[in-house]
Amino acid sequence: MSLSGSRQPIREDVTDLHSQPILIVDFGSQYTQLIARRVREVGVYCEIYPFDIDATVLREFAPSGVILSGGPETVTSGNTPRIPQCVFDANVPVLGICYGMQAMAAQLGGAVASSNRREFGHAQLISQSPGALLAPLFAQAENQTANVWMSHGDKVTGLPPGFECTASSDSAPIAAMEDRAHGYFGVQFHPEVTHTDRGGQLIETFVRDICGSQGQWTPANIVDDAIAKVRAQVGSDEVVLGLSGGVDSSVVAALLSRAIGPKLTCIFVDNGLLRQGERQQVQDAFAAAMAQGQIGKLDIVVVDAVAEFLEHLAGVEDPEAKRKIIGNTFIDVFDREAGALENVGWLAQGTIYPDVIESAASKYGNAHVIKSHHNVGGLPERMKLGLVEPLRELFKDEVRKIGLHLGLPEALIHRHPFPGPGLGVRILGEVRPAYAEVLRQADAIFIDELRAANLYNQVSQAFAVYLPVKSVGVVGDARRYEHVIALRAVETVDFMTARWAHLPYAFIERVSNRIINEIAAVSRVVYDVSSKPPATIEWE
Ligand code: XMP
Repeated sequence: MSLSGSRQPIREDVTDLHSQPILIVDFGSQYTQLIARRVREVGVYCEIYPFDIDATVLREFAPSGVILSGGPETVTSGNTPRIPQCVFDANVPVLGICYGMQAMAAQLGGAVASSNRREFGHAQLISQSPGALLAPLFAQAENQTANVWMSHGDKVTGLPPGFECTASSDSAPIAAMEDRAHGYFGVQFHPEVTHTDRGGQLIETFVRDICGSQGQWTPANIVDDAIAKVRAQVGSDEVVLGLSGGVDSSVVAALLSRAIGPKLTCIFVDNGLLRQGERQQVQDAFAAAMAQGQIGKLDIVVVDAVAEFLEHLAGVEDPEAKRKIIGNTFIDVFDREAGALENVGWLAQGTIYPDVIESAASKYGNAHVIKSHHNVGGLPERMKLGLVEPLRELFKDEVRKIGLHLGLPEALIHRHPFPGPGLGVRILGEVRPAYAEVLRQADAIFIDELRAANLYNQVSQAFAVYLPVKSVGVVGDARRYEHVIALRAVETVDFMTARWAHLPYAFIERVSNRIINEIAAVSRVVYDVSSKPPATIEWE
């Protein structure tokens, strides 16, 4: 079974988008998804499976190579993950990274020593007798050393029979090993992270030269494939999509407009908790893409449900209660609007691959952190709609590439994430229309200034928060006793951890001055210097 369903050739020049895939076996490393992204970047399809992958699943996936991820456990204790026998039985090249290398060494007759001391950071890799795999790392080196990223406690201390050591480092005399006859490779360092110089080339060499995967995984092919699949899936039924204007739902809209044109209806719900001008911006972005012929004609039903949401929220202060009310009201509105359409058989959603991986827990239950995600669930059973999820195989950066390929504007594709409950969780405590208006203005000033200073794309997410506490200020000769706006900007890769963005003081000063001078209802601006953890990105 594969997550991708049936595999039909789409274009004459494409034999199969998913052909010669790479299997990634996940031992729970925080870098596993990075390995997959590196493989996809060289144009080869791959999927991540838990380390307890079933032999039948592996056979059906028919990989042309396997990469074993790192992981937090130690092979020196008994009850920890092991490489399943089916990986060795597949008779394809295997690359073990960190824990994957240690498991390979332990299982094939080598030795691994445990250590309490973790080596974390840059290390110098010294070439021993590097074969093709390591060649890219040393290609430009004058002294046969390479800069790599290490993150390990245990290390391989004895080579399994048939292996030779191909590189060492100070702390790991066997930092890389190969059994060329079998096509087994191990590296103690992490080629998937950008801190390893030319690590991406090492992965490319493994995937293309050693496994022989040629790869058809390009935006154009992915789009063609998705279009063909959606057409086959929905037939002549109508499809409905909740369009928020976020990247994922926008790309689904653009893709489906090409696939099924007028059979798609998008429902955009204005819940009164959107940012300044957002409702219009989303409509304009799609109108422009349609006018330029980039996407087909798209039916967007804009529902003004502002009064309904704000009424339901009146007097409610608890963040989780607010989230529930906003979620339930959305479902009521969406259900009502979709119910008014005829022949709707399908609900399209912007579920992406990380959501799928996070929901697919290993049966051992310890390899994945399971995060509840926002795309799945929520809609009432009685709607009885089938799901269309054309982005299910894609990482966020791939979704963005496809969005650009489909002609969606850059500004929409590279927008910071915006939570489903919108400004509802950025107005602390009770949500009042007047607070929302002030927050919209403050947020717009912050974002405008970030764009003007070319800082918008340097931070991962930035926004203003409305604090319903009063503080004294003076403007001119007048004393002002008004509310406080907090500015939040973070840098993050995965939104699971984040660092507060070190924006220049002069920039923060400019934003603060503008907010206090232009918005009479604000007397003070503060900058949030909390990282995640322990703080979260949103304030509620
Ligand atoms: P936190 O605040 O948990 O946020 O550090 C991590 C990321 O998730 C977004 N977020 C949400 N998105 N519904 C959403 O759709 C929510 O209830 C929600 N809460 C947080 C947040 O904006 C950040 O990108």
